[in-house]
Amino acid sequence: MKVTGLSGALGAEVADFDVMAALSSGAEQDIRDLLNRYEVLCFRNQTVTPTEQRDLASIFGPLQTHPAYGTVDNLPEVMLLESTKEKPSKIEVWHSDMTFREHPPSVTVLKGVTIPPVGGDTLFASMTSAYEGLSAGMKAYLEPLYAVHDFAQGFKESLSEPGGRERLKDALNNNPPIRHRVIQTHPETGKKVIFVNALFTSHIEDVSQLESDSILRFLCQHAVLPEFTCRVHWQQNSIVMWDNRSTQHKPVNDFLPAPRALHRVVSEGFVPY
Ligand SMILES: [Fe+2]
Repeated sequence: MKVTGLSGALGAEVADFDVMAALSSGAEQDIRDLLNRYEVLCFRNQTVTPTEQRDLASIFGPLQTHPAYGTVDNLPEVMLLESTKEKPSKIEVWHSDMTFREHPPSVTVLKGVTIPPVGGDTLFASMTSAYEGLSAGMKAYLEPLYAVHDFAQGFKESLSEPGGRERLKDALNNNPPIRHRVIQTHPETGKKVIFVNALFTSHIEDVSQLESDSILRFLCQHAVLPEFTCRVHWQQNSIVMWDNRSTQHKPVNDFLPAPRALHRVVSEGFVPY
């Protein structure tokens, strides 16, 4: 195994490593330890099936399904993320996955299936590094605060499509707005992280709208400063996994009209937020 860091803040490419062989030889803890250290891991040339990808994600804890995405091969945990000229991805902004859940995913495992010839990278930002970059006064101010995360905000474009509200009726009903601490403590590393994002976080509780808007705007800009980020270039059969509790990511939608398809499995983890 050869581990090469992707930036000073987070991310590593792991070469000479077969993830499924590692699983069958009991090396799950090695993968978990690497993920705790680097927050984002990229493995190349992994010809795993959707079922194997599901099993890989299971090493991080129970799996979750998604209320709005289609799935693969009758495997409800393996979501299909597709972007085409006719149906481009609507997700543009920095986010952590599914923070509208009471217990958002701890780890996301994504596999490149159809990769465009150029473009389509994913940017990641370390919320651990971003927290460390705050002033002592700002850390103390944020510590007691809670923020509300809302499925309806994150999927507002889908909801505003013709028939969108009807199509997503169950998802809306099953996912009312939920509160999370603005500053979380990672259950495995013990490090503090910023846990708000531009996609799903609607407001901070118990402060004025102006204060909430201003603080969220600052946090969302601060959290993704270039020094807290890394960039992953996809290849077919790349597997990229990230700690969803301590990172944010942003798709770079610069590859159209070429199609792009990924398979995604998310694990709630053993100790989610
Ligand atoms: Fe995402």
